[in-house]
Parts: sequence; C-alpha cells; structure tokens
Amino acid sequence: MGRKFFVGGNWKCNGTSEEVKNLVSALNAGEVPSQDVVEVVVSPPFVFLPVVKDLLRQDFHIAAQNCWVKKGGAFTGEVSAEMLCNLGIPWVILGHSERRLILNESNEFVGDKVAYALSKGLKVVACVGETLEQRESGSTMEVVAAQTKAIAERISNWADVVLAYEPVWAIGTGKVATPAQAQEVHFELRKWLQVNTSPEVAATTRIIYGGSVSGANCKELATQPDVDGFLVGGASLKPEFIDIIKSAE
Ligand code: G3P
Repeated sequence: MGRKFFVGGNWKCNGTSEEVKNLVSALNAGEVPSQDVVEVVVSPPFVFLPVVKDLLRQDFHIAAQNCWVKKGGAFTGEVSAEMLCNLGIPWVILGHSERRLILNESNEFVGDKVAYALSKGLKVVACVGETLEQRESGSTMEVVAAQTKAIAERISNWADVVLAYEPVWAIGTGKVATPAQAQEVHFELRKWLQVNTSPEVAATTRIIYGGSVSGANCKELATQPDVDGFLVGGASLKPEFIDIIKSAE
C-alpha cells in the first residue's frame, strides 16, 4: 500500500533532565531501519523539547504532546502552535484520551485544535479510541467515527495527519488489543475515511495503533494490513522501543 511505517514514542509526563539525556543517548545508539522504511517521532514533555531537539539523532523527529486551540495570548499555562513552530518542533499529538477524559477535551475542541495546528504548518498525530464500557456496549465504531468526524469536518488536508487508534482499555494496562481487534477498527476507520473524505485520503493516511505496545507484541500487530505503525507510551521509555521501531522491517 506504500504507507511509510510510523512509530511514535509518547513519553507522557515523565523524566528528569538526567533521565531525558540518558534516554536520548540510548535512542541515538539504537540500530534501526532507514528513514525510507520507518518514520520515528518521539514526544517529550514540553519542558524538554529544546534539549531533546538539540541532542536527538537527525533521523528521528520530535513532537509536542499538545498545543493550544488558537493564537497564543491570555491563556495561562498553555503552549501555542506558534511557539512550537518557533522552536522548530514539527509534530504535535492531539486528542490523546488522557486529555479527552481527564481534561474534558471534546471531539469538537480536538477537531478545532487539529485544524489550527495544521493551519500553522504542524504535522499532527490525532488520537481516537473508545473506553472499555463503550467497547463492551458495542459502540466502538460509533465512538471512534464521531471522534474522527469532528476532525474531518474541520480539515481538508490529511497529508500531515497520522490517525492513532488507542483503545482506552489498552492504555497503560498491559491488555494490548489483539491483532484482530486492532485490524478490525483500523479497517473500519479506513473505510470511514474512504466514504467521508476520499479514496486517496483513505489509501494514504497512516492509521497507527497505541495501547500497551511492547517489544513482544509489536511484530504480530505490525503484520496487520491496516496497522501502519504505533504510538507507544511506557515502552518508549525503555530499550525495547528500538525493537518496536524494527518491527517496521
Ligand atoms: O499515546 C500512547 C499511549 O497512550 C499508549 O500508552 O503505555 O499503553 O503504551 P502505553
């Protein structure tokens, strides 16, 4: 299908200056496939973006874990898309379930954030995913379709968007989705894109999986035809992150 494999590392709210420098050193020493095969984007907390950008190997890229929904100003505590661009940070993760659930970021708010970030030239990893209750009630596709629709209604250019399916019940739990579960939702999301955006967007947009990805389970997940990579949390802070990147081969 020709979609370049994408592996994101979401460090979440973790790290000290020393730990971050040690982690970057370990990443810089890792043997991984070329950029022609896999696109690697690591996402430290805001406070470490400049130092990670300065120290990280040139074949890896960097993302912020969030940004504000409009031009900066009287929004205490927020970080604007303009600031990320000014720092030379090319990617941003938006709509992570931890922000949707803990900070009550609505589908519409996430959609507005994605549109604004793209308008400023950022590339976006846009996250969708259902809770365990929603899956058990059979509303998985209804939920992720609504989350995706709120983005699709606000953007026209999908070239700089990677869609991350992260079932909430798999995040941080060790209960990784089975390859079949992941493939089913990725397939349905790609079908949704085909019907609601265009066949080209559906064919070219990378849909990546996140939720307890590890060095042990990544290979089988990577064999699924509609799994185009991963968004990795806990394991991105460990040496096995290099193994997960190698699953692109
Ligand atoms: O954004 C990726 C994250 O939500 C997945 O976390 O620790 O289950 O890999 P984890």
